Amino acid sequence: MKVLVLGSGGREHALSWRLARDPGVTQVFVMPGNPGMLSETAGTGAAVEPLLENLSLVQTIEFCAKNKIDFVMVGPEKFLFEGWVDELTRSGIPTVGPTRAAARLEESKSFSKQFMTENKIPTARFYNVSTEAEALRAVDQTQSWAGVAVKLSGPALGKGVIVCDSTVEARDIVKKFYADKTLGIEDGMVIEEKLSGREVSLFYACLDDEFKFLASACDHKRLLDHNQGPNTGGMGAICPSPWVDFAFLKRIEESVVRPTLDGMKKAGSPYRGILFVGLMGELLLEYNVRFGDPETQAIMPLLQGNFAEFLLAIGKGDITAFRTSKISTEGVSIHVVKAAKGYPGLFGEKIESGIEISSSPSVSAPNQQWFFAGVKDMGGRLVSGGGRVLGLTAWGRDSSEVRARAYGAISQVKFSGEQYRKDIGASAGGAS
Ligand code: AMP
Ligand code: GLY
Repeated sequence: MKVLVLGSGGREHALSWRLARDPGVTQVFVMPGNPGMLSETAGTGAAVEPLLENLSLVQTIEFCAKNKIDFVMVGPEKFLFEGWVDELTRSGIPTVGPTRAAARLEESKSFSKQFMTENKIPTARFYNVSTEAEALRAVDQTQSWAGVAVKLSGPALGKGVIVCDSTVEARDIVKKFYADKTLGIEDGMVIEEKLSGREVSLFYACLDDEFKFLASACDHKRLLDHNQGPNTGGMGAICPSPWVDFAFLKRIEESVVRPTLDGMKKAGSPYRGILFVGLMGELLLEYNVRFGDPETQAIMPLLQGNFAEFLLAIGKGDITAFRTSKISTEGVSIHVVKAAKGYPGLFGEKIESGIEISSSPSVSAPNQQWFFAGVKDMGGRLVSGGGRVLGLTAWGRDSSEVRARAYGAISQVKFSGEQYRKDIGASAGGAS
């Protein structure tokens, strides 16, 4: 089987690394991928081959035909929002991911909040607003709330949410977003009640009416230890979440997952692909219509079963194969992200790049894997090229042992100015 993974980050490195280990897979291409993935050709798996080139949709369809690609796995939301799944599917290429219409669950927070209300899915109180004046009026209505999350409705690369403790602060943030003409502001905002509680990510594979639970994870969103500093795309993750048990899963499946699939079907956009449900307590914070980054880097090493066959079943819409696939996670893992100086670059701060990455000769160890994200090649040297540069996953049976091993190996790959959290997995309860 030949697979094409779309995307270039740590999540795509982890997906291709995992797919390359499935029996029957002979080659995994990644478009565009990154040069850090080139190290991933040895070992027990099939070859992982980053194309290191951005192909257009038309070129990608041609590439799939020429290379006899069996299915395409989409990593980042960008391709989903641009309707690549619709076009690839129309060209007869099985593709894993929701259609453009179904991807609105993530693309528009206003749409998704409205959808939750219509389908009686438990979520925080909110106002959908489309102008600065409306946003300020809405903030004034929130005096009795514990705080306010000010959210850009449109995609904002993890930078569109500011959680405020007071209405004064929330008013300031609204004004700042409008004054800076922050990317995405034209799609309006959601003014949402601040929630507190344990944050949990659940990952489901969905095929129209049916779903299968894949894994739970805890992201660590804030830049600094003890959940301080600004929100980021995610500075680390653990799998599974220590707060998820069978009864919790059953309740969420009934209150969130089932009504979501039913609601999407009713809206004429049946949902196919990975559904990532972000919860705080038992309230739905958000949907993502794909695997999470960095959760995927924690989940992939634990995934048991033939993942490639499973994804192929989703891509083909083969409900029998989907139903009979056995897919589960085993063990525990931790992933620690190293980000560039200046990340997350809030309100114009510069993110450093072009810094050489050095690694010690003994980087490969059992049950441990480096996943590369924002890296590029500069004259044969690997240098940083983005916010989240790389990360290390360690896995095993016991979370304390795994955590100690991850931090013991954390300096094997490094670069100057790197920022990473020292408390990933230390207190999963507050992992935000
Ligand atoms: P999002 O971009 O929607 O993933 O939000 C980023 C992060 O902001 C979430 O993972 C939470 O940690 C935090 N957050 C979002 N909404 C709320 C809320 N209503 N109350 C408290 N924290 C929130
Ligand atoms: N880790 C959160 C995300 O992928 O959006």
